[in-house]
Amino acid sequence: MSASVKKNRFTNPYISPLRYPGGKRKLIPLIADLISRSQPVPLFVEPFAGGASVSIGLLEAGCVENIALSDKDFLVASFWKTVFSARATELAEMVLSAEITLDNWKMIKRAQPSTEIEAAFNCIFLNRTSFSGILNDQAGPIGGQKQQSEYTIDCRFNREKLASRILELSELQERVVFVECQDYAQTFDQVRQTAFCQDRLDQVLWYFDPPFFEKADKLYRHTFNDTGHLLFRQLLRHIEGHWILSYDDVPQARHYYSGDPGFARVNLSYNARIDSNERLSSSEIVVSDIIAELRRRQGQGCIPAMGEVLSLKGFQETISDNALSERCSERAV
Ligand SMILES: C[S@@+](CC[C@H](N)C(=O)[O-])C[C@H]1O[C@@H](n2cnc3c(N)ncnc32)[C@H](O)[C@@H]1O
Repeated sequence: MSASVKKNRFTNPYISPLRYPGGKRKLIPLIADLISRSQPVPLFVEPFAGGASVSIGLLEAGCVENIALSDKDFLVASFWKTVFSARATELAEMVLSAEITLDNWKMIKRAQPSTEIEAAFNCIFLNRTSFSGILNDQAGPIGGQKQQSEYTIDCRFNREKLASRILELSELQERVVFVECQDYAQTFDQVRQTAFCQDRLDQVLWYFDPPFFEKADKLYRHTFNDTGHLLFRQLLRHIEGHWILSYDDVPQARHYYSGDPGFARVNLSYNARIDSNERLSSSEIVVSDIIAELRRRQGQGCIPAMGEVLSLKGFQETISDNALSERCSERAV
């Protein structure tokens, strides 16, 4: 077993330094399991990267050889660009010396960063000091404007842990083919044109986690309207390579995707809150050509029948995360 596999736990809450709203860390065992039953993955692409915990978890576990990330949000994309660059040390130092005060929060919230390093720092600062990690205009500071709560603005900013995780991740930069700030459609084109993918586009594995159908405007700075969700579905039909899609489990998503032979519903509970009363949906839909293929080839096995709700706990009981890591890394080149 390689050192990176030993170190990796899919359950580690610090897989990503970002506490991303709607983050999909809990899907990692399921996705790792699908990959382990399919072919090796030279490139795993996440065009709606957000906190990128799925890509990072799979990369560290040796389940995929390389990753590529993109996100339309300038703060988020700048964060990942910097982490996987020579400037990661500078960012880690900025995190170590950050002043976590309400005045600073207000100043950074208003700022319009013009450089990547500034945007990267503002991203992690606001993500770790704002309510539920939300970066959009509506989110206030943890502890409120009066800081009278038992949780204060600095309670999620463990600077040593964050800085060391940034440095640890930066060591993986040679396995990060690109990080871009762009619309997902541009990422489709970029992957097609990347020299790395020539002659092996069919081996690329895409992981799509688009903004939710519902309530996304309360969580993200970029979202889809109805046309955006429809357009994405149309473009997905023409994707080259394998793909996994996750969406919030709501009627519109089921309407769009439940007819797909790779459709499954997954039990998942989120920690992110919209506000003190409203909770995000606790189930997710997952659609994948790999699930469809496994159903065709092997019958059901561990893959639930169409429409059945899949318990992630069941998956972890069947195959522990370390065992999955081993299986992936044994097969990795
Ligand atoms: C559901 S979140 C992704 C969460 C991520 N999978 C995680 O585990 O943290 C959706 C992301 O899509 C990004 N986004 C929204 N519209 C986009 C677009 N047109 N192209 C690329 N990214 C977009 C948002 O900025 C947000 O980060």
